[in-house]
Amino acid sequence: MKECRHVAIIMDGNGRWAKKQGMPRTAGHLAGADNVRTIAIKASEMGVEYLTLYAFSTENWKRSKDEVSYIMKLPGVFFKKYMQEFIDRGFRMRMLGELDALPPETEKVLHEAEEESKNNTGLSLNIAINYGSQREILLAARHYAQDVRDGKADPMIDEAGFEKYLMTKDFPPVDLLIRTSGEQRISNYLLWQIAYAELEFVPEAWPEFTPQVFERCLQEYRNRDRRFGGVRQ
Ligand code: FPP
Repeated sequence: MKECRHVAIIMDGNGRWAKKQGMPRTAGHLAGADNVRTIAIKASEMGVEYLTLYAFSTENWKRSKDEVSYIMKLPGVFFKKYMQEFIDRGFRMRMLGELDALPPETEKVLHEAEEESKNNTGLSLNIAINYGSQREILLAARHYAQDVRDGKADPMIDEAGFEKYLMTKDFPPVDLLIRTSGEQRISNYLLWQIAYAELEFVPEAWPEFTPQVFERCLQEYRNRDRRFGGVRQ
């Protein structure tokens, strides 16, 4: 069976889903957070090793103050509810993004989740928060330039060498990128890491992205013919 080690998901459509149910947008984010647990469990059962979820982009600060502050409180609620279960399931939590710009309490909760799960060897559940891919590449380039100036890096490094400067340095490349809710955009997500990923855009909003829909996505992935720029054998 074609391996799918790393799945990335742009969890879109929480707001629209909530509105359709006559609920405030924040109710969509709460349902979305619960669905993170559901899909993480499914991913782990399906043999996915890395699941990288886009929870908050560097552009999402433009939303209303109330919505941003609600989303910032969600990690606290989420890990309080599910951390023990995640530990029991062997999940390892990792964060991508500039966490030091988050409210201090949010940053603390996220670092604690990383710390408490760092010895686990099951699913790597990676949450991108205050993350933007152009910014990630820019920060990597600055860090690399500094290392060259300090004589710590070879000026002629290759792609694998440069990847060590990215926030995903310990992850394999993305095999499958899914975006929910019908939009067909990448929205500044993992631009380097999706170079050869398969892309799937599904109509379901994130809160209605069920394990069955996820299975359908993995099935579709397996039916694709990945050639990495080569020719069909
Ligand atoms: C996109 O839907 C969703 C977000 C910007 C926030 C996603 C956050 C979560 C699912 C919660 C994750 C939390 C944890 C703790 C992992 P949207 O609001 O853009 O929906 P719309 O396009 O319908 O407005």
